[in-house]
Amino acid sequence: MLNLNPLIALGLSAVLSTSAMAATATIEVQADHPAVTINSAMWGIFFEDINFGADGGLYAELVKNRGFEFPDPMMGWFRLSPSLAKGQLSIHADNPFNAANPHYLRIESEAAAPFGVANEGFRGMGVRRGETYNFSAEIRRINGAASFKIELYGADGSLLDSVSLKECPANWTRQTAVLHPKDTDPKAKLYLLVEGKGGFDIDLVSLCPEKTWKNRPAGLRADMVQLLADLKPGFMRFPGGCIVEGTDLARRYQWKKTLGPVEERPLLVNRWNYEFLHRPAPDYFQSFGLGFFEFFQLCEDIGAQPLPILNCGMACQFNSAELCPLVQLDPFIQDALDLIEFANGPVTSGWGAKRAAMGHPEPFNMKMMGVGNEQWGSEYVERYARFAKVLKEQHPEIALIAAAGPSPDDERFKFLWSKLRALKADVIDEHCYATPDWFLKNTHRYDDYDRNGPKVFMGEYAAQSQYTLSPKNRNNLECALAEAAYLTGLERNADVVRLASYAPLFAHAEAWQWTPDLIWVNNLSVVATPNYYVQQLFSRNRGDQVLPTTLKLAQEPAAGSSNAIPTLFASATWESAPRGIILKVVNAGAASADAEIRLEGAGSVGLGSRAILLTGDSPAALNSFEQPKNVVPVESAISDVSNHFQHWFPAHSMTVIRVPVK
Ligand code: AHR
Repeated sequence: MLNLNPLIALGLSAVLSTSAMAATATIEVQADHPAVTINSAMWGIFFEDINFGADGGLYAELVKNRGFEFPDPMMGWFRLSPSLAKGQLSIHADNPFNAANPHYLRIESEAAAPFGVANEGFRGMGVRRGETYNFSAEIRRINGAASFKIELYGADGSLLDSVSLKECPANWTRQTAVLHPKDTDPKAKLYLLVEGKGGFDIDLVSLCPEKTWKNRPAGLRADMVQLLADLKPGFMRFPGGCIVEGTDLARRYQWKKTLGPVEERPLLVNRWNYEFLHRPAPDYFQSFGLGFFEFFQLCEDIGAQPLPILNCGMACQFNSAELCPLVQLDPFIQDALDLIEFANGPVTSGWGAKRAAMGHPEPFNMKMMGVGNEQWGSEYVERYARFAKVLKEQHPEIALIAAAGPSPDDERFKFLWSKLRALKADVIDEHCYATPDWFLKNTHRYDDYDRNGPKVFMGEYAAQSQYTLSPKNRNNLECALAEAAYLTGLERNADVVRLASYAPLFAHAEAWQWTPDLIWVNNLSVVATPNYYVQQLFSRNRGDQVLPTTLKLAQEPAAGSSNAIPTLFASATWESAPRGIILKVVNAGAASADAEIRLEGAGSVGLGSRAILLTGDSPAALNSFEQPKNVVPVESAISDVSNHFQHWFPAHSMTVIRVPVK
């Protein structure tokens, strides 16, 4: 029987007619045997500043290299020489407005016509008509009586807005102005012009939309954060990823350097600037406008538990593999202790006081922390053990996440699991970038995991439509469903797998290094991928306890086809409020499945049942900036639910059935 509303049925008619013969299955849910409690933070997100995820992405600042601190201080800036204009640009470092941000730009105009520079932003600046953009810069007049103009131009060269500063004294002064672009433009540019004869020194230039997430000045892009909030993530892992490790230790992520006034957060080259020769990004740096305080604040805003990952004294083992000698590890461990105090300590503590001074006297209630990212070998075990000894003694309340290397099943992985099990690690962080088939074949991976050993954090995973690191990987429906199938296995084993996050999270469509990614953005828009909706279907339909679920095919694969890749998957959970059963069924195959669903021991069910269906017209289906809603969940009421009922699962689909129980 088809339980579809007419709209969905219309949309699926093509799938029906081209499907191969329908498979028939029985899905049995033991509704009166809630097995294990699911971690309320189970489904989370992984943030790393990769693909212009922070600067040029989540961090709403539109000016690139605003402090002239890039190794090429003029990167991102261009000389403007309209006819009749004459002048000089130079970079200086004497008597800066802030010694922590020493370089600044001098513009000297020698004619009446406006002379100056333009900033190109991050592949342009996305501005919207009708919205307000706040400009600020540190400026001092060095000579002459010229005026200082700030202008915004569209990609086609049209003037979007222009403002002249009223007074510019001879000492460093923070100047502000407000711009209202007369048109929307994804690739606007900011012009700084000196009109008349005279010179100015300029530093820390900023242009930010007034409309940010929670309207915080120089805050985060509201549309990007909204998508995160809509996931209802249980936790947020930050700041990565390999970025934690650094190419070498000098370039590792150091959280203490990401606090305080933004001009005092030392710029650091982003490791994804040069990591991939096929996707170089020479203008990719970390300004840390999105720093650790902002990460904690973001977690709080979206209801996600903070899960920071710290460097454990090891640089990226794919790069330099530099090690901090064990005898010099204390400062790294101290960083972890200080972070706990920063996040959770009272305002009377040193780091708690710093948090309070930043405007957050209440603790951030951090409960977990990662020691190292994607490390391996005995070098890691030795370092992890040192961290764990100190942290467990002083902070037994913090769950420690240990690394299991870059692969889900190689020798490095096995070695680490055996050592970390012996060390009684709390949680082990598994990473998996693999083909869709790998995910489909491994949904029973955790069925046999030791229930008494460390728990699992599936900390990075994504199905790769081509192969890992291929620039041709796509966030298509096939990959999303392979992940969904895999997640039914995680859900069934929620006593072992306590946390899971897809990686990476964001990618700028014109500035990415790694694909696939959960959310694609450009300077004005966001696109949630089919993979995003899979995450959302799990996190928003989590349930509190796992219900034992079995799936039986009417026709088991023929003998000799034991390598056949399974296509139908199911898991179920119990939700206490409102009381009900949540059944998730993934049909990754090319044939629809008409399944009998048996809700054993459920009592009185039926009224108010709903189905949420995620599907598309082919496994290759994608969402794009042009068609962002091509593959989205569609919800409909289903009327004929009872303790035993039939439901039709279209080819290439994921369905969540919510059955209220009296
Ligand atoms: O998610 C992208 C990268 O994949 C992460 O930085 C790293 O941990 C893994 O290798």
